[in-house]
Amino acid sequence: KPVGDIDGNPRDFVARMKAGNKRLAIFYGSQTGTAEEYAIRLAKEAKTKFGLTSLVCDPEEYDFETLDTVPEDCAVFFVMATYGEGEPTDNAVQLMQNLQDDSFEFSKGSRDLSGLKYVVFGLGNRTYEHYNVISKQVDTALEKMGATRIGVRGEGDDDKSMEEDYLEWKDGMWDAFAAALNVEEGQGGDTADFAVRELESHPEEKVYLGELSARALTKTKGIHDAKNPYAAPITLARELFQDPKDRNCVHVELNTEGSGITYQHGDHVGVWPSNPELEVNRLLYALGLYDKRNQVINIDSLDPALAKVPFPVPTTYATVLRHYIDISALAGRQMLGTFAKFAPNPEAEASIKELNTNKEVYHNIVADGCLKAGEVLQLAAGNDISAVPSAENTTAWPIPFDMIVSSIPRLQPRYYSISSSPKLHPNSIHVTCVVLKFSSVPNDKVGERLVYGVGSNFLLNLKYAANGEEAPLINSSGVAGAVVPSYAIEGPRGAYRLENVYKVPVHVRRSTFRLPTNPKSPVIMVGPGTGVAPFRGFVQERVALARRTIEKNGPDALADWGRITLFYGCRKSTEDFLYKDEWPQYTADLQGKFVMHTAFSREPPYKPDGSKIYVQDLMWEQRESVAESILQGKGYVYICGDAKSMSKAVEETLARILGEAKGGSAEVEGVQEVKMLKERSRLLLDVWS
Ligand code: 2AM
Repeated sequence: KPVGDIDGNPRDFVARMKAGNKRLAIFYGSQTGTAEEYAIRLAKEAKTKFGLTSLVCDPEEYDFETLDTVPEDCAVFFVMATYGEGEPTDNAVQLMQNLQDDSFEFSKGSRDLSGLKYVVFGLGNRTYEHYNVISKQVDTALEKMGATRIGVRGEGDDDKSMEEDYLEWKDGMWDAFAAALNVEEGQGGDTADFAVRELESHPEEKVYLGELSARALTKTKGIHDAKNPYAAPITLARELFQDPKDRNCVHVELNTEGSGITYQHGDHVGVWPSNPELEVNRLLYALGLYDKRNQVINIDSLDPALAKVPFPVPTTYATVLRHYIDISALAGRQMLGTFAKFAPNPEAEASIKELNTNKEVYHNIVADGCLKAGEVLQLAAGNDISAVPSAENTTAWPIPFDMIVSSIPRLQPRYYSISSSPKLHPNSIHVTCVVLKFSSVPNDKVGERLVYGVGSNFLLNLKYAANGEEAPLINSSGVAGAVVPSYAIEGPRGAYRLENVYKVPVHVRRSTFRLPTNPKSPVIMVGPGTGVAPFRGFVQERVALARRTIEKNGPDALADWGRITLFYGCRKSTEDFLYKDEWPQYTADLQGKFVMHTAFSREPPYKPDGSKIYVQDLMWEQRESVAESILQGKGYVYICGDAKSMSKAVEETLARILGEAKGGSAEVEGVQEVKMLKERSRLLLDVWS
């Protein structure tokens, strides 16, 4: 019987706490896994600081009736992400209902939680309007029912400073926690979460080499979702920019035939990337594991309730770094403290400690320099991080591998707005992905470096491979060097490569970004850059419907359809105009009901003052028809793309247009109208930062 298992109701978390001798229950409202990671970190800290063990809980798996029976010497933590437009994550919907619904009674027949001590940490994104509302709602509801908060409510900003926000908050919270639960620091120890064992012999076919679900090798069936992604073969991959000199945008078509995967226009596809080989090798050398990279290992959790092994095992050292943990991410400040204990020499120890403890130095060197864990280890040991890593130029740190698995987060899927419609492409998901590459802020330790996004460069590399093209000689440090595509892995069986078909692990995430069902409603879509992706799906959806309608009701069947208008922007008509050749055909198919306005920001004409013309300027030019579509036509507006500046500017323009049309001002009538459109789901956003 696993630790903490009980005979009674398995959904009773208090019974579970008691059975397992746990004094903390840590609930996480998590959509992509970040909140879950912070929940686990809190649990680990409670253990190392105070020697207290926790129950880390997915709220979906528990009932909340017994929230009023949590013992006095225990605390309940809520680590809650705010999702989309101020919504709870899917797994926290029930929890939020129970906390906020006044008719829901706890086990003692009331809504009194006066004995309960709780902690709240929220995860949100400041570029969104409803920053961290879910954690605030949790806090307010608990307070209202008489519960006592420990410390202050923490808030992390996913856009900029999650890690720093967390670090800044947690020390004060733990002080308050120690006082509230009457416990003392220093009772815990530096315990590992996992035990890594090297296996002498193991059947090859039972070793996971990148598969993301245990089902992959046991061949058990199951639906494909975030817990069991589907390795979809690439049927087509091509460059979308006309002039891809320095920038790329990749179009990938993924075959889902026979997988059971379905999707709707406007949904997202989660793509599970793998890390570039160069970074895998860098860390293998920095850990002294390069020669043992294909050694088969097993990993056991020492406390399954606290930490599940986050990927299928047995596996190999190289596979873990390549496919399962996020070694390409910025190295967090806290993990550097763990690494310091295993420094190869006193200079390296002093150097990494400085990065760990001095916030300013950390920020300047590591954060601004966008350094990954492997690069920080090299830098602290005095190695040249711009060279192609080798045994000669990289100092080995004797960090136990279980520490690496504990401190580096899992590799997460990257989400893209699907750019096709299932009505035109029932067995194919199209992805439109601009390839991320930018320069880091230079500092005196490491100069300016090129930084490559993991997900988009993974897709770019797959495009090269699928077409038999040679990838250009660059690596993640921006110097010529080893280019082993990330998926072309060594070992007996390529996880994503089957003969010459390349595969990408994917799953579909549902969205509410959908066309109105009635084609008579006018539609306005605003999507510059890759923000156009879902709108290609929207237009295809309408094209499919038009073809069927015409077939059934004759050539005039579209006469009373509403107009669908796309505002699209890019730099130049000859450079980065996405799907340039497709749009005229869609207009023809829709008999002119589809209209497109294009803003080319880096080619003439410019505005009289010389500034660029953007999509919002075109909307202003078309303000009469925009206002008419929305006000008289009861139309729908969709915005997709950059959350920071573009979508804000477009909303402002919309407020100006509607304010003017209503004979009032942008600030009053306009803002009111925009708010109303949002409330009625007639203004929908799919934006990212
Ligand atoms: P720019 O890069 O020339 O400034 C797709 O990225 C298009 O969106 C480009 O033409 C880009 O122009 C434009 N863009 C950049 N910032 C924008 C903003 N705040 N509002 C609207 N479009 C913007």
